[in-house]
Amino acid sequence: MPKVSDILYMRLASPDLDVQEEFLSNFGMHRVERTKKALYMRGTDPNHHIHVTELGDPAVLGWAYLAENQDNLKEFASLDGASGVEEIDEPGGGYRVRMTDPNGFEIEVVHGIEEVNPLPVRRNQVNWGEQPTRRTNEATRLQHGPAEVKRMAHAVIASTDLKGTLAWYRANIGLTCSDDIYDGEPDNLVASFNRLDRGEDFVDHHVLFAVQGDHAGLNHVAFEVADIDDVMVGHDHLKSTGKYEHAWGIGRHLLGDQVFDYWFDPYRRVHEHNTDNAVFNNTVSGNLVTFEEMQGGQWGPPPPEIFLNHAVK
Ligand SMILES: [Fe+2]
Repeated sequence: MPKVSDILYMRLASPDLDVQEEFLSNFGMHRVERTKKALYMRGTDPNHHIHVTELGDPAVLGWAYLAENQDNLKEFASLDGASGVEEIDEPGGGYRVRMTDPNGFEIEVVHGIEEVNPLPVRRNQVNWGEQPTRRTNEATRLQHGPAEVKRMAHAVIASTDLKGTLAWYRANIGLTCSDDIYDGEPDNLVASFNRLDRGEDFVDHHVLFAVQGDHAGLNHVAFEVADIDDVMVGHDHLKSTGKYEHAWGIGRHLLGDQVFDYWFDPYRRVHEHNTDNAVFNNTVSGNLVTFEEMQGGQWGPPPPEIFLNHAVK
């Protein structure tokens, strides 16, 4: 069974690429390319792009995972319902296999997209914990401005068929369970956190979180930023524009550990800044936890209704 090695970019559609680019720039991404049909944004890591917006009515089209190599990509192409290996006719080039998940999202598995030079990152040495003198004879002066988005981190979806969705992602994408959540009887799954399966390599606690819902859709897409200061600086910047609606935060999650901050984009797609993810490898197996156990965060406000019930396509 083939397994992806990372998650790479989100693919949305928006009717005005100027409006989308303005939001994403304020969110902390950088334009790498823009054509008449689409906008490509990058982070500070070397991935060519981490966010694609096609021109069109607002839609969540899907997202892309990375295949380790070209042979691996061919294995994905042999799966039921998968396209053949296609050349990508977009900036950065490369090859991909397309599949449709049980919720109608187009999932791409890609390889060979060109890389770009990493961008410089604002560094903050913090004097805390067991290293209270990491920054000496020097004052911290964080610059105001957008967050410094590094990379795409995960997608969170609602599905009318959670079990079918989990089976699909585990069989076709090679994801593995971090935490399955049930309500009442253990068979009554209501949500599930899933991570990449990269053997001994440590990976984020989740690359896909799926919940049972009354309609399918994207709850949010998450992007990792430089550090906790960056979450706060980025929050202040988005707020200072006066243009965007805040969805939830700032807080620290229980399952996954991340410090998080959520914002609606101009077309109601929630974008998350996060940092300090819990990471696991194959020495830790999946958990079955109760719905009650997953409630609440480690600090920060509880999720508002506008966030909890949000799922758009
Ligand atoms: Fe998230």
